[in-house]
Amino acid sequence: MYTIGKFLGAGLFANVFRLKEYPLWCVKVSKWTNRKSTLEEQFAKAQILQRLGVPVPTFLGVYEVTFPSYFKKTIEKQYRRGEISWWRYWNLCRIKEGMKLGLVMETVESDLTLVSSRRVKYHFRKEISKVKAMGIKVSFDADSRENILWSQKQGKLYFIDFDFWRIPRKIINQ
Ligand SMILES: Nc1ncnc2c1ncn2[C@@H]1O[C@H](COP(=O)(O)OP(=O)(O)O)[C@@H](O)[C@H]1O
Ligand SMILES: [Mg+2]
Repeated sequence: MYTIGKFLGAGLFANVFRLKEYPLWCVKVSKWTNRKSTLEEQFAKAQILQRLGVPVPTFLGVYEVTFPSYFKKTIEKQYRRGEISWWRYWNLCRIKEGMKLGLVMETVESDLTLVSSRRVKYHFRKEISKVKAMGIKVSFDADSRENILWSQKQGKLYFIDFDFWRIPRKIINQ
């Protein structure tokens, strides 16, 4: 069991938080469901992509995570520091204390502001053409700045949010 720490980011479907005990790892918690199978499907997909050499974070699996009683305080601090908008703050504060299921993965210390958009585009095109050459169909928003992470330290781009990518059966069974 893990405890929810600092808020890292959000998409349409999920919020991502650092794990309080292990900040080098983070957890993706769905905003809408708590279905284990959905998370497990994502985990399986991530493992296939990693095996194929696609740059995705390392995933640990589906675990129970706790939103602690001081969760709102953590979020408030981040709001005061200007790290999150009022709207985001308001939304996060509505999460109830208690346990949920989440997908645990490696935290990528990502900062897209440190890199030129030319360099990101170059890496994106290079990696995405390898993905497409394998017959994988990527989602329309794969190149959105919200769905890629950039590690300046490693000079590496990561794909996140590949839930809607379609991987052909024949490579899954390989
Ligand atoms: N491994 C990670 N390390 C650091 N931040 C992450 C990681 N995964 C996701 N995030 C942050 O969380 C946000 C939402 O994640 P994403 O997987 O795109 O969720 P959604 O499925 O809701 O779109 C991302 O835009 C990013 O800011
Ligand atoms: Mg997303």
